[in-house]
Amino acid sequence: MIIGIPKEIKNNESRVGMTPAGVLELTHKGHEVFVQSGAGVGSGFTDEDYLKVGAQILDTIAEVYGMSEMIVKVKEPIREEYKLIKKGQIVFTYFHFASSEPLTRAMIESQAVCIAYETVEDEERTLPLLTPMSEVAGRMAIQQGAKYLEKPVKGRGVLLGGVPGVPPGRVLVLGAGTVGIQAAKMAAGLGAHVTVLDVNMKRLRYVNDVMPPHVVTEFSNEYNIRKHIKSHDLIVGGVLIKGAKAPKLITRDMLKSMTPGTVIVDVAVDQGGCVETSKPTTHEDPVFIIDDVVHYCVANMPGAVPYTSTLALTNVTLPYVLSLAEKGWEKACSEDASLQKGLNIVHGEVVYEEILETFGPLEGVTV
Ligand SMILES: NC(=O)c1ccc[n+]([C@@H]2O[C@H](COP(=O)([O-])OP(=O)(O)OC[C@H]3O[C@@H](n4cnc5c(N)ncnc54)[C@H](O)[C@@H]3O)[C@@H](O)[C@H]2O)c1
Repeated sequence: MIIGIPKEIKNNESRVGMTPAGVLELTHKGHEVFVQSGAGVGSGFTDEDYLKVGAQILDTIAEVYGMSEMIVKVKEPIREEYKLIKKGQIVFTYFHFASSEPLTRAMIESQAVCIAYETVEDEERTLPLLTPMSEVAGRMAIQQGAKYLEKPVKGRGVLLGGVPGVPPGRVLVLGAGTVGIQAAKMAAGLGAHVTVLDVNMKRLRYVNDVMPPHVVTEFSNEYNIRKHIKSHDLIVGGVLIKGAKAPKLITRDMLKSMTPGTVIVDVAVDQGGCVETSKPTTHEDPVFIIDDVVHYCVANMPGAVPYTSTLALTNVTLPYVLSLAEKGWEKACSEDASLQKGLNIVHGEVVYEEILETFGPLEGVTV
């Protein structure tokens, strides 16, 4: 198969759809890979790195789309890319169709085969192509939180690990899912005292089993949240209710009870946030302050660490890319129920129920 790796053109996106290691796997199997010049630079890969493993470098994005049977990328295509996508072409990337009707309509019109990373689902009903980004965001939450606890950026002036004779900082983690567990692990590693809240007892039992004794678990309810926000320096929001907006666990009135300089890293901001005062921010301007509480609400946290994020993402996408390249999309999807779930729009037809549930019947479209 002929596979194309375009350079991401969405604002501030430095990840790339495939690493040289992935290209090598494909070229070894006899596939042709076209990489747009400069596509890997943001993630630390030069054109030379791709050439060495058998890729061909093309100058323009139009050439990459024009030459390829399958496009492998990271972010959803943006307006400039809509017209480049061809009839019958496989596009394997994050789409998040439900958040954009124009994108949905454009992909219906393109007659392409759109396979969305975010809806590939394994037997345990987890989303294997989303998990690595939650892992990155969870770990980063502590790195960012520690930074914004510093006084010059209006934090409390607390060192999470403490020092001999001075107690460590206190970290409250809301949600013991992928984000929460990774955040708790990083905070515990720094020596902070960590409290993890969840409504799922299985998750709390797991945290209790695997974490050191300075990570404690408690059931998540308003009473406990009101109690703990007063005494914790850094709060990480990692709550998710699948298919719904995040619940507002910290309301505006609660901010007044927190110590000035407390930092909230609301990772769940991409689903509306679990703090009433959260609103999405960017890496250029990541924080804002309300009632002396520092809010870090970057909706695309993994974008700041493209080297790690690209490797983490391509580790999990590559097996699917290889299967699609070997078998073509029909056979690959019919033999793999996880990949089948990734099919969203095929030859102009929406085949993923939730897209129609979001937009209602799109003219001329059936499931
Ligand atoms: N900002 C970013 O860059 C970024 C990156 C990756 C993920 N995310 C977001 O982070 C959020 C968490 O993702 P995840 O992969 O960890 O999800 P997950 O499903 O693994 O975990 C969510 C956890 O929240 C718990 N929960 C639900 N209601 C709760 C409540 N009332 N109190 C406490 N816990 C509750 C669930 O039981 C579950 O354990 C998602 O919204 C995801 O989209 C954001």
